[in-house]
Amino acid sequence: MTRAVHVPARHESANAHVSGRAVYLDDIPEPPGLLHAALVLSPHARARIVSIDLSAARALPGVVAVAAGDIPGVNDIAPIRTNEPLLAAGEADYVGHPVAAVAAPTLDAARAAAALVRVEYEVLPALLDLDAAYEAGARVAPDQQVGRGDVAAAFASSPLRLSGEVRCGGQDHFYLEGQIAIAIPGEDRDMLVYSSTQHPTEAQHGVAHVLGLPFAAVTVEVRRMGGAFGGKESQATIIAAIAALLAHHAGKPVKLRLPREVDMEATGKRHPFRVRWEAGFDGDGRIAGLDMEFAADCGNVADLSPAVVSRALCHADNCYFIPATRFRGVLVKTNTVSNTAFRGFGAPQGMLAIEAVMDEIARHLGKPIEVVRAANHYGAAPRNITPYGQEVEDSLIEEAMAHLDAKANLAAWRAEIDAFNAQSSVIRKGLATMPIKFGVSFNLTTLNQAGALVHVYTDGSVHLNHGGTEMGQGLFVKVAQVVADAFGIPLDHVRVSATSTAKVPNTSPTAASSGSDLNGMAALIAAKEIRGRMAGVVAAHFDAPVEEVVFAEGRVSVGNRSLSFGEAAHMAWQQRVPLSATGFYKTPKIHFDLAKSEGRPFYYYTYGAAAAEVAVDTLSGAVRVLRAEIVGDCGRSLNPAIDIGQIEGAFVQGMGWLTCEELKWDAKGRLATRGPSTYKIPGSRDVPPVLNVHLLDKPNAEETVLRSKAVGEPPLMLAISVWLAIRDAIAGLPGDGPVHLDAPATPERVLAAVAARREGLARA
Ligand code: MTE
Ligand code: HPA
Ligand code: MOS
Repeated sequence: MTRAVHVPARHESANAHVSGRAVYLDDIPEPPGLLHAALVLSPHARARIVSIDLSAARALPGVVAVAAGDIPGVNDIAPIRTNEPLLAAGEADYVGHPVAAVAAPTLDAARAAAALVRVEYEVLPALLDLDAAYEAGARVAPDQQVGRGDVAAAFASSPLRLSGEVRCGGQDHFYLEGQIAIAIPGEDRDMLVYSSTQHPTEAQHGVAHVLGLPFAAVTVEVRRMGGAFGGKESQATIIAAIAALLAHHAGKPVKLRLPREVDMEATGKRHPFRVRWEAGFDGDGRIAGLDMEFAADCGNVADLSPAVVSRALCHADNCYFIPATRFRGVLVKTNTVSNTAFRGFGAPQGMLAIEAVMDEIARHLGKPIEVVRAANHYGAAPRNITPYGQEVEDSLIEEAMAHLDAKANLAAWRAEIDAFNAQSSVIRKGLATMPIKFGVSFNLTTLNQAGALVHVYTDGSVHLNHGGTEMGQGLFVKVAQVVADAFGIPLDHVRVSATSTAKVPNTSPTAASSGSDLNGMAALIAAKEIRGRMAGVVAAHFDAPVEEVVFAEGRVSVGNRSLSFGEAAHMAWQQRVPLSATGFYKTPKIHFDLAKSEGRPFYYYTYGAAAAEVAVDTLSGAVRVLRAEIVGDCGRSLNPAIDIGQIEGAFVQGMGWLTCEELKWDAKGRLATRGPSTYKIPGSRDVPPVLNVHLLDKPNAEETVLRSKAVGEPPLMLAISVWLAIRDAIAGLPGDGPVHLDAPATPERVLAAVAARREGLARA
């Protein structure tokens, strides 16, 4: 038997996924008396709610209808700040804002009842546009700043200066399984909620607050999500709490499942950003000072935006030491849906900005971007301090780039591109690389904790539970591998179980890519506790020192004497030794004071590099990504198959954000792109025909679980190589001046950039 870890084990539900047997919430057999719910949404971007009349809806048989006034507890589900109502109270703040909800014996009846809810609005002027809202001073939270050194002095002493502006768009999560919850009232006002959530504890708190219950009266359970991508970190709480509110009033189970259009209209997305920057640098492209202002479109409430913007500011350095920095975050309020967590959590926007700066400096100097980047890489002290004061101790920046070059031969690749372009004027190719450094840990130190619960049964089978949630990312198999390895048993002896607030309490969201770091370690601690007790039993049995007991190959051995793991478990039980343990882990070394821009928010960094080749049709603006080579840093990978899958998926999702996915609102603030016909996510044929992932396979310098590294989000940012490659293709056209191309680089934007280039025009 090989070890259960560091091997490519399949996803724990892979067979169930592909055979359709994996149970998602909508597949759970309906409990007797189940009611189906529908939402009543605001049709206005901003309006005073004059009155809500639920009587016509309530007159229908079996119908329950609720609005803000029916909330027995507090009407607030804010994850960070306060005053973010579950159901609009007093004012509706975006088109799609839930104003009321109804439940009825059938879904059709629920929708019919929702249509009977009469809401009288007084329409108010709305701020729909980031720039206008920025100018108007509309904010959801105070400004933030990260930086160090004297930027003005650095500018004054820099021989060269450039400034610019770059924008990137939002992104819908487009999880396959939409937002859904089933709330089942129990005895004594207890509430059991099945929620498709990354954050069962926050859903539990939301339900408890809204119903005025102690947390202990609410249990939230989730076996798996059909994708989440950050979209079910805070947003799932809204769905769970509305279902629970209806169930509370009905005294019956209620299921709330949003149709795709409603999901897209009513729940949050990635933040669009506008970034204005100014850089002072020398003839080598080495930056002395950098000032960047990040205006984030947060939508109508703060939600997770303060944390998203902090992460953007803490990733706007990417791989570069810049002596003087001033990174400001402005949290702009608009009358649009609340923007929220999305894979990368602000870091993609931060990194895109500095890579635009690198690109412009490189083109200004006529040097390859890799040369300019290398002049700025983090290195030995004193060039190892980030703008927020953390030392970069574990840099693999140069190693990742060298590995990429070794795998992809960048010079030869560039020569191929140049040769192609020399004989092709309509289809033009571009090539670009992208290095990343991503900080692993929640910026908020408190959240970096996890718990697990492990039971060993007397036949040697193992029941595993922890606070992390499974959204397709393979967390459950990884943690099971860690536990199987600790006990020296085959992976299939470990059963994973649904995440529940009743099993492991007070959990953090499964987010910030930290799921396996945190829960893997908590489960390992629990398993080691049980293993230690079992070792004591077996050592006594063989009359040997406990240090000589080995757990491997499904056996517990001392020298050449051994018991099967099951026999050892049974023996421990006979001797009244407990075979169940909890494990608790908190990330060491971290602390952070955002206000002072000081500390060590991240336990470690993960690195990576990618190169992408694109072909641009200069007549239609269409782009295809032809080849991508990716170097991923997963430390000592717990499961290379899962990690490579995460890297491929994240890269393609990043491509979507930067190329084809575009959210459009009309002049009244109505989302026009509310389904796959108008909102284009990458399809299977958009995956680059050549897509190679190479793992660095270097143990984490920090003591993470079996020296692995987080993987979920970082590779999304490697797709910035695609956006840079499109810029490269356009810059290769005859013409003049910088390339102006915002993201997403849709065919329209590409065509405009091509035209501007051809006319030698620079946008004012
Ligand atoms: N992979 C799949 N298949 N589905 C998802 O929803 N979410 C991503 C990433 N990979 C996601 C995914 C996001 S946003 C995060 S933060 C991590 O998974 C969370 O899981 P982890 O911490 O266990 O990696
Ligand atoms: N990432 C994801 N989710 C979060 C974070 C983060 O850094 N902080 C709070 N929620
Ligand atoms: Mo991921 S955006 O941290 O859920």
